[in-house]
Amino acid sequence: MNIKSGFTNWISPSNIALVKYWGKKENQIPINPSISLTLNNCHSKTKVSYSKSKKGFNYEFFFHSEKKQSFNKKLDTYFKRIIDHCPSINQLSLKIESENTFPHSSGIASSASAFSSLSLCIYEIEKIINKNKNDFFNKSSLISRLGSGSACRSIYGPIALWGKTKYFDNSSDDYAIPLKNYHEVFFDYLDTILIVDHEPKQVSSSHGHELMNSHIFKKDRVYQANENIGILKKSLKTGDLKSFIKVVEQEALMLHALMMTSKTPYILFKPNTLEIINEIWNYRKKTNLNLCFTLDAGANVHLLYPKNEEIEIKKFIDKNLLRFCSNRRYIHDSISEGPKSNDG
Ligand code: DP6
Repeated sequence: MNIKSGFTNWISPSNIALVKYWGKKENQIPINPSISLTLNNCHSKTKVSYSKSKKGFNYEFFFHSEKKQSFNKKLDTYFKRIIDHCPSINQLSLKIESENTFPHSSGIASSASAFSSLSLCIYEIEKIINKNKNDFFNKSSLISRLGSGSACRSIYGPIALWGKTKYFDNSSDDYAIPLKNYHEVFFDYLDTILIVDHEPKQVSSSHGHELMNSHIFKKDRVYQANENIGILKKSLKTGDLKSFIKVVEQEALMLHALMMTSKTPYILFKPNTLEIINEIWNYRKKTNLNLCFTLDAGANVHLLYPKNEEIEIKKFIDKNLLRFCSNRRYIHDSISEGPKSNDG
């Protein structure tokens, strides 16, 4: 085949899970469905340049313009897994250039934005070479999943669901889908990320997923996550923020409770994480405003709240919560429509 060289270019955001993906089977299939908000400011920019290769598939990876081989193990696994879905890359040499907009050493995980932006670039190349025009986003989500599970949700904004569930007919374990039916209060929902600890976490999510295989609470966790999808579906549709908050906070605490009760227990939150949680609970009792928290697999705290309460809540953050942040750092973000092609 006569292959012309070219490049593709995508910006893709990170996401924050409301119902957490925690535990997986073979082939990156989740043990339970998850729902997330797609963010705006925390994103990765990736450019993939391609040309016909004389020696079969090969690639080079640059992160912030520096050649990085430390990512090669993850990337090798990714390319092995996606080759059947993107056969055209077998004949290509790729130069991958990626950068994140999150501040350096913020402790924010980047695999979701990194793998979703890379997958959009790769699947666009597949589309160009094999003239395969079908299901572009769906296929990009599927191959993102094979890089990092949570990455498949970043393909869609503002709210995405991944994993088969009885609550959504078209849901799938293979890829994420965008959630359609949600209340206007969520159109511009905000997420302020408090950087409690900027060090990389000591236990990887991959290891945490693995520990779920033999977890004593696995069956109950899978049951509860499915129930929470059902409850959240309702609160997202009606805009019932009280029930939204209840599920979101329960999910965050359950994620960390699962870590603490696994066969080799570990704790990722820090004393300041708990200080922040207590401050939020007191503030909510006092003001009845709809500020709530969620946690990733780390010590940082995501503060979720509606735009129409922003002024009050930001004052509270600056006055009461900033003192618990490492170097008084936080990132203001909001939900977005999802990835953008960056061809300009
Ligand atoms: C706690 O997607 O990072 O953030 O599939 O092994 O790459 P891999 O795991 P990853 O796990 C994310 C777990 C989580 C919850 C979530 O985002 O749903």
